[in-house]
Amino acid sequence: MAETSVPKTATTHVYRHIIDFPVEDQILGELVSLDTRVLDIGTGATGRSALKARERGAQVTSIEINTEAIAEFGTTPDNKGIGLAAADLLQLPFADRSFDVVQVALHGFDYILGCQDRLQGLSEMRRVVRPGGYVVFNAFNPIGLSLAPSGFKPAMLKTRLKYLATAGFMKNTMIDYNGLELHQAPVRVITNQAALAGLNRESVRNLSGSTDHPAKVALLSKAPYYVFRRPS
Ligand SMILES: C[S@@+](CC[C@H](N)C(=O)[O-])C[C@H]1O[C@@H](n2cnc3c(N)ncnc32)[C@H](O)[C@@H]1O
Repeated sequence: MAETSVPKTATTHVYRHIIDFPVEDQILGELVSLDTRVLDIGTGATGRSALKARERGAQVTSIEINTEAIAEFGTTPDNKGIGLAAADLLQLPFADRSFDVVQVALHGFDYILGCQDRLQGLSEMRRVVRPGGYVVFNAFNPIGLSLAPSGFKPAMLKTRLKYLATAGFMKNTMIDYNGLELHQAPVRVITNQAALAGLNRESVRNLSGSTDHPAKVALLSKAPYYVFRRPS
């Protein structure tokens, strides 16, 4: 009998990788300075994204849904005084307009799968950011996952061919290399979802930060970073 594997979720998998993309530093450099109030959602066991904002002098508030990750971050020797609280992106335990910047780094928002939940998450992020403040996250892009030149390199070719052969680009979710089920959507769809929640797209950029040309990013970036703004 064929084995059925159950995809992992935020509560059944602890993410421990440290990957830095140049675009993250580019965006933090533009939006964060001394005492900027940053909410880092999905901080994870390593605290990578929260620590990056802290290094720039931000006042960082951090939340995470996975209790094992929270415990692990608590043992990090240099966690720069960041306390990691248990909370869900879909129900943020903060007052309206509490932050200047809300960020969900490295696919944290892709963990949210259904349309209703995604709208709820976007609305929550809009609620807690101040008017004129920013919401930043990245998202897998099925068009870029199909066409990005890096996917034709020998090391990536097998994964790319499987994605194309199984029409992975036609689906709303994908299974990543950790076995996690994650949302994927073209730039146009992510932009429309955010607009429904009252967030305007300021920019969309590839992971190297070398372009913010919307059409180029929409076609060729596997996992663009988005900067949205709550209208003033
Ligand atoms: C890929 S990790 C990124 C970790 C870290 N932010 C970084 O940039 O390296 C995504 C994190 O989001 C967390 N997460 C997923 N869904 C969440 C939710 N609904 N609320 C809060 N955190 C969530 C996951 O548990 C995971 O730790």
